[in-house]
This record gives sequence, structure tokens and C-alpha cells, in this order.
Amino acid sequence: LKEHEEVTKVKNVKFVELGKYRMETWYYSPFPKELFSEGPALDVLYFCEASMRFFKHKSELHRWLSKMDPKDRHPPGDEVYRDAKLSIFEVDGGEQKLYCQNLCYFAKLFLDHKTLFYDVDPFLFYVLCEHDGRGFHPVGYFSKEKYSDAGFNLACILTFPSYQRKGYGRFLINFSYELSKKEEKLGSPEKPLSDLGLVSYRSYWASQLLALLKRMYAEAAQASGTPLEEVRLPPLSIMDLAKMTSFVTEDVVSTCTFLGLLRYVSGQYLIYSPLPLVEELARKYPVKPPVVDAARLHWAPLI
Ligand code: ACO
Repeated sequence: LKEHEEVTKVKNVKFVELGKYRMETWYYSPFPKELFSEGPALDVLYFCEASMRFFKHKSELHRWLSKMDPKDRHPPGDEVYRDAKLSIFEVDGGEQKLYCQNLCYFAKLFLDHKTLFYDVDPFLFYVLCEHDGRGFHPVGYFSKEKYSDAGFNLACILTFPSYQRKGYGRFLINFSYELSKKEEKLGSPEKPLSDLGLVSYRSYWASQLLALLKRMYAEAAQASGTPLEEVRLPPLSIMDLAKMTSFVTEDVVSTCTFLGLLRYVSGQYLIYSPLPLVEELARKYPVKPPVVDAARLHWAPLI
């Protein structure tokens, strides 16, 4: 009942400003009640891009920024990934409690379907930033349990609304599986997924599985010297694909079912993937940039 009450509570902050963007919020977020000393709702809350501290007045944010050492104008934690345009910072909920709680307050404004964890200690937060000459600008993040008994490799994902539909959600999902590969584990996002979460994951899983099948055809053709059209792949199981992608078998099955790539043969499910079908589907679900360059990931699992 408590969760339900929280979900149905009316919006208490109408807009947030982060860097150069003002965004309209979607849902209620349980900010500390001291913030609402002058009324039940705020028009705008101003967030600092580096610390995620929030202020009721822009002048307060400016004062805060003017005191900040320019060197510190990035999320706290380790920069575990950097390419020409994007960086990812790993922030430990146990070490940077205030930052992570503030990030959760912000995130809740755009998430309604699940309880966010305000006990941030058990989580790592991966904050994606665009970087330019003026510094780091956070565009989204995902959280991940440090130890997940259920095998989740992502707890909660958000692309900040001003940056949505640019491929950053896909990039964060891509990154979560690169971490699983380094851990040599299969992974899956925590359930339930929101509608937007489901469409993003479905299109990601589909594009990755199809690209993998296309690559297998190309490699088999090259290895055997056979024209691509004549190549036959050896029988592939669900587990084969799971191991190659780090997707759990349930997600491989649901994606292959959705794509019509599963056949039940002699008591077991096998992948049915003739090349023309794979090519046609791959045109529909292409791998789109930005893509994580695994060579630029500097990270090792906790254990
Ligand atoms: N309508 C239709 N399709 C969409 C939409 C949309 N609004 N958003 C994403 N998609 C699909 C598309 O197939 C898209 O690919 P395309 O743009 O090439 O067609 C694909 O998902 C990936 O899009 P991205 O641009 O990478 O996704 P984005 O950066 O917008 O982030 C996300 C997706 C994170 C789900 C974002 O919508 C969001 O933050 N939503 C609010 C929070 C949320 O619901 N998070 C998921 C909760 S579930 C969980 O946390 C485990």
C-alpha cells in the first residue's frame, strides 16, 4: 500500500534544470519535506551537473558552482570509460551516498513503476556523460547491485528526457552487458520493466542477436571458402547464444520467439535462422551508434 501511495502521489516538482536544459517532470519524487516550506509544489528545481545537489533558486546554484574547483566538475567516482564523445563514471553508493541519493531523487521524477532504493549502499551507479570543451554533462545512468542473487546486471535505467531517443539508453544497456562479459556472467535487467524499458531492451536484444548471427555466417563463409548464400550454420542452442551475448536464456528465448527464430526439434528448441531471414530482420533491427568500444572500458569485477 505504501508503494501504491507513493506512485499515485501528485507531482511535487514541475520542472528541473540540469546544465543547459529545463525538463518537465513526469512523476512525484519523495524530496525532503524541508524543500516545500513555502507550498506543496515547486515550479523549478535547479540541479548541479557535477554533484546532483539541488537548489530552489538559480542564484544558489551559481554560488555553489562558483565555489567548486573546476577540476571537480564531473560526477564523483572513477571514470571507467571514455571515447571521443562519451564518458562513464562508476559511483559507489556506499562511498558517495549524498550524490547517489540526489541522483535517485532526480530519477524518480521520471520513473513510476518501481520503488527506487534510497538505501544506495548496495548499488553502483554508472553515470553516462557527454564531454566537450566545457566539461562533463550527465545524460543518463543505470544502477547495478554490487551482489545480485537473482543475476540482475541492471537495477534501474534512465536517460534524462532532454537526451532521450539519441541512442543513450541503448548505449547504457550495451555497457551493462559489457560489464557482465567481464564478470563472465549472464545478466538481465531487474523486473518489472517499464513500457519504455521493454521497447528499448527488445530492440537492443534483437539487434545484437541478429548481428551475431550475421557475423557467424560471414565467419563460416570465410573459414570454409564457401559463398555466403551456401553456408549452413551448425545447430545452435539457446545456451550457445546466451553465452555469446551474456543475455540470460529467458531473454534469448523471448527475443527469438518475438523474431520468429525458434523451432522445436526432437524435444528441444533450436535456433532457426536461415540467412535471408536473418538479413531481412537485421535491416529492421540494425545495430545503431553509439556503440560501446570494449577496448575503452577500464574496469575489473569486484570479486
Ligand atoms: N517510443 C518508441 N520507441 C522507443 C522510445 C519511445 N519513446 N524510446 C525508446 N524506444 C526504442 C526504440 O526502438 C529506440 O531505438 P530507435 O530510436 O533507434 O528507434 C530504442 O528503444 C532505443 O532508444 P534510445 O534512444 O537508446 O533510448 P533512450 O535513450 O531514449 O532511453 C529509456 C530509453 C532509458 C528506457 C528511456 O526511455 C527512459 O529513461 N525512460 C524513463 C525511465 C524508464 O522507464 N526506465 C526503464 C525502467 S525499467 C528498469 O529500470 C529495469
